[in-house]
Amino acid sequence: MITCSEATRQLWEYLDATTDAPTRGAIEEHLSRCRACCGELEFAQELRRFLAGSAHDQVPDGVLRRLNDTLEELGPSRDLIHSTEVKDLVREAYRHVPASTAPVAYKLYTSEELAHVPPSAINRALGVANHLRFANIQPGDTILDIGCGGGIDTVLAAQRTGPTGSVIALDFLPEMLHRTAEAAQEAGLDNIQTLYGEMEAIPLPDASVDLIISNGVINLSPRKARVMAECARVLRPSGVFCVSDFTVQQEQLPPEILTQPAAWAGCVSGALAEHDFIYKLEKAGFTEVQVQHREPVSIDDCTLYPLFTDQVIALMRQLIPAAKQQQVAVSVVITASNPL
Ligand SMILES: C[S@@+](CC[C@H](N)C(=O)[O-])C[C@H]1O[C@@H](n2cnc3c(N)ncnc32)[C@H](O)[C@@H]1O
Repeated sequence: MITCSEATRQLWEYLDATTDAPTRGAIEEHLSRCRACCGELEFAQELRRFLAGSAHDQVPDGVLRRLNDTLEELGPSRDLIHSTEVKDLVREAYRHVPASTAPVAYKLYTSEELAHVPPSAINRALGVANHLRFANIQPGDTILDIGCGGGIDTVLAAQRTGPTGSVIALDFLPEMLHRTAEAAQEAGLDNIQTLYGEMEAIPLPDASVDLIISNGVINLSPRKARVMAECARVLRPSGVFCVSDFTVQQEQLPPEILTQPAAWAGCVSGALAEHDFIYKLEKAGFTEVQVQHREPVSIDDCTLYPLFTDQVIALMRQLIPAAKQQQVAVSVVITASNPL
């Protein structure tokens, strides 16, 4: 069995090895539609469509055979299994994550910002950037925090929207919801509601929130297009999407790292390339998509997150060329608007 991203990588290799123009055109067209699938259903569907259609008439038999082999390796329900496996591994990893990540909070937020955040939430910070600086929270806003974790951004957002507004803190781990509820209580906030559910099927009505925030969460989903479609659905017209996430150039990371469960849990293996993140948001209907902030993430930065095992960090130091060790990913803050 191989993962979708490996299969995509193989296709790029076939493309590089092919000099015949019609073949290159057909494969390029396929790849441009496929984009980086990151475990989503798109890859197998596109490949099946490509092999069933007439676009490949010019493709030499050898290449077709290899493409068929790739499809075979993916297996008939490989994507679905892969998606479930990914969710399970993320659940397990975050269920047991220790309360030892205060250094993440001190890296991302100023001491003024943290002054009124309970230590329990600071000690469980697992975000990747400070998107709240770009969220333009207004008093009275109804805010959805996707993947609230220990509650640090939920608390900060609830303080900013004030008593006339509210924050809905969504997570698929009851343990995290419990921690966020405790943090809200410690901070003396009663405008926070915890909500159990998955970001791929947000249990909220259409057009019910003004602002969506999320920090280091979308990169964990095996179905990112679906998450973005759900965000567009629950945001009111002209509502705002403002999230922090890791982005990566998958082809620059060795497959031995991309296929490590701990690297997916650490937000790296599942991360999209920046242009794919933007493409998927636009495909979901968002407008005014803007990258507000970019920051390189080094291997040393990864060590702040206990999701990365010592073994994966050692593998990264061993396999990633020294010149690239200062930027294995880029943390970005992206804003977008839901159309009117
Ligand atoms: C990297 S942590 C970020 C936590 C928090 N946003 C922060 O900044 O500290 C990811 C969080 O997303 C949650 N999560 C992961 N996949 C999810 C999914 N499919 N649906 C809902 N929550 C999910 C995890 O349980 C975890 O609490």
